[in-house]
Parts: sequence; C-alpha cells; structure tokens
Amino acid sequence: MIKPDAVEKGFIGPILEKITAAGFKIIAMKYTRLSRRDAKEFYAIHKDRPFFGELVDFMTRGPIVSAILEKDNAVEDFRALIGATNPAEAAEGTIRRLFAIDIAENAIHGSDSDANAAIEGAFHFSGREIYS
Ligand code: CMP
Repeated sequence: MIKPDAVEKGFIGPILEKITAAGFKIIAMKYTRLSRRDAKEFYAIHKDRPFFGELVDFMTRGPIVSAILEKDNAVEDFRALIGATNPAEAAEGTIRRLFAIDIAENAIHGSDSDANAAIEGAFHFSGREIYS
C-alpha cells in the first residue's frame, strides 16, 4: 500500500517509478480508501499496541494505492527497497527515507512474508483483479 501521507503529497508516481525500476511487476492495483473496519482488520495483529488508534485514524484519512507485486525474492527485496519502518533509520535511497516523515506516517507498507502477502493480497483484491 502507498499510504495516505504519500498520496496527499503527490508521491504516487515517484514511488511507483522506484518500484517498477527495481524490477517489480504490478499484477494488481487500485486507488481506494480503507474504511475503519478495513483498517482494523488489515492491522488486527497490532490491535493491542498503543498506536493502534492512531494507525487506524491515519490509514483511513484519505485514499491509498494498493497493489500486488511479483518478483523473485519479492518480500525480502521489497523490504530492502522501502527501508526500515522508521524513516529516520531507513537507508539512503529507500522509499521511506525519500518520501516518509516518521514511524507512523511512513509512506508505504510491504508484506513481511509470503504467507502474509497472500493474505493481504486477498484482502485487497478478488481473483478477477489479479493479472499474473
Ligand atoms: P507498517 O509497516 O504498515 O506496519 C504497521 C504500521 O504501524 C507501521 O507501518 C506504521 O505505519 C505504524 N507504526 C509502527 N510503529 C509505530 C509507532 N511506534 N507509532 C505509531 N505508528 C507506528
């Protein structure tokens, strides 16, 4: 997901450019807005964290871009491309370093495993919307 902060600042194009230049193929994509129910479900794993309310407010305040990306070693390579959760700790040239402000408004989300990528892809897209 390209998160609401990055969409608000006009960074959809530059972020997609970095993603495709790094060799990822977009096999599904939509411009949409999460409901509070969607955001709570997507981030259910964080429901007991102190920042959960703030996270739901943030993720629902405006549109996002969701996408499914395909590449060999995609999860690991995408996490390297986006950088650490906290942009202040993200390596030079990473998407979060370039486009994010802080640990909450960190511009982009990437799945942390192949299993979660399958779950998160099915959360956003039906089979008919995926072109692999
Ligand atoms: P993401 O990689 O999408 O996974 C969980 C999200 O919660 C994270 O990016 C941030 O947007 C947010 N998050 C993580 N840690 C914090 C924190 N300490 N305070 C506020 N938000 C956080």
